[in-house]
Amino acid sequence: MNERRTTADDREPTTDAEGKTGPTRAAVGTPPPGPRGLPVINSTLGFARDPLEFLSSIREYGDVAHYEAFGREFVVVSDPGLVETVLVARDDEFWRGEFEHEFSEVLDVEGLFFAEGERWRNQRLLLQNAFTPARIQSYADDMVDETVRLVEDWSDGEVVDVREAMSTLTLRALTRSLFDLEYKEPRFSEPNRGSHPRSFGGDRADCVQRWVQAMGAYSDSEFFGIRAVLPTWLPSRAEREYRRATADVEALVEEMVAERRRSDAAGGDLLSLLATGEYPNGSRPTAEEITGQLQLFLLAGHETTATVLTYACWLLAAADVEDVRSRLEQEVTTVCGDRDPTFADLPDLAITEAVGREAMRLYPPLPFLQREPHEATTLAGYRIGPATTVQLNMYGIHRDERWWSEPDAFRPDRWLSNDEDGRSVVADRDDRPEYAYFPFGGGSRHCIGMRFAMAELQLSLATMVRRVDLERVTESIDPTPRVSLDPGPVEMRVRRR
Ligand code: HEM
Repeated sequence: MNERRTTADDREPTTDAEGKTGPTRAAVGTPPPGPRGLPVINSTLGFARDPLEFLSSIREYGDVAHYEAFGREFVVVSDPGLVETVLVARDDEFWRGEFEHEFSEVLDVEGLFFAEGERWRNQRLLLQNAFTPARIQSYADDMVDETVRLVEDWSDGEVVDVREAMSTLTLRALTRSLFDLEYKEPRFSEPNRGSHPRSFGGDRADCVQRWVQAMGAYSDSEFFGIRAVLPTWLPSRAEREYRRATADVEALVEEMVAERRRSDAAGGDLLSLLATGEYPNGSRPTAEEITGQLQLFLLAGHETTATVLTYACWLLAAADVEDVRSRLEQEVTTVCGDRDPTFADLPDLAITEAVGREAMRLYPPLPFLQREPHEATTLAGYRIGPATTVQLNMYGIHRDERWWSEPDAFRPDRWLSNDEDGRSVVADRDDRPEYAYFPFGGGSRHCIGMRFAMAELQLSLATMVRRVDLERVTESIDPTPRVSLDPGPVEMRVRRR
């Protein structure tokens, strides 16, 4: 999924007559079309009120469209080839940009997502060791265990908020993989799976959970709430709580780093890797950097996966996809029999994977990616100024009828074909551009947690399918871009199998 570095079908020469690349092209090019006639306030309100609708409607101006909002310039890119140009072929011309960095500054979270240049490269090379297939295999049982623990708590007929439940699930699984910490409640364990000789750090896990909750409340109030109209010198209650929780998590990580470095307590978690590892340039991460990375990974890996699982459960419960549901159940029964899924089952859980992929097509957790050119440049012949935020319109491209038939319909079958033995397999179609689907981004900065997330989606879905059916109580959802594309509360009734 958009991992490889390909040569893009760039629609303009990447070198000028003198063989120079990049900024020299800035002199040419006209500004992209867009809703220029409208007062700036209209675009600001349009985007703030309903960003997804705004990004869909701006496509009427073409695949490269310009608007102004919040006193800034934006260019929306809705063509897969141009997305590939920005993320892959000419990625050295772009960085994440001021707009993204404001988020990192307000939350005071640093780490891989926000690092640039040599610093980013050093961090990425060290951190990617935590996401090799072997490491993910070692996290897989925890993902299943945490799903079992969650679902075993549900009784027949109970109405649960699946959005909240999935958020608890992915936070627990991530806390185990990142810190090797478990929450206090007794863990359900099955006879067919060995028990894990683990440290039992309930209080410590609660400290992580408090930080994540405080961060969610603070970022909501700061970016999506009434905070915009309050004087900025006045720390809000959410901010005070967030700062307190951050100080606690910093102290905890410092303590745990010292433990890992002192003894042979280091394990396969990300904290151990950072505490005992070295950057390729030979330096070691400081305790402060380690805290920053762990916070960043909690931020990037928790709600993203939770929302996809929520959308998948909700989409699967639609009245018109009974056939998908029964084939999914059949697949899980055939592959797993009377045990829970394991890492080794993943290649055989093709329908389960297709459900996850299709949920991310319709509701990508990050519905648009943002970049800024280092210097003025051109894209498809249009001039892009240096302080312009380029928005890669993932949500619009994932639902563009040029690449997708019935683009708004939930059809996992579009990802499946049959192998020579007649078994379902997931296959990328070659009749659409590669970047018609890019839920994990692309090029060198594609999601480092992609394999982790895909494994969790498949394992958690298959584990749930073995135990429960979920019926819709919430009939319609109104997704809103927040830290991740948030469906809001999604109530569903549990039917135990
Ligand atoms: C379904 C779940 C997920 C989705 C859809 C997702 C999506 C993405 C996307 C689109 C990007 C690229 C952003 C850009 O280019 O501007 C990204 C980057 C990143 N993701 Fe994920 N992500 C998911 C899960 C995770 C998990 C589980 C982790 C960690 C455990 C994680 C950690 C990161 C990090 C650290 C980056 C920054 C990589 C870099 O800049 O080198 N993500 N993710």
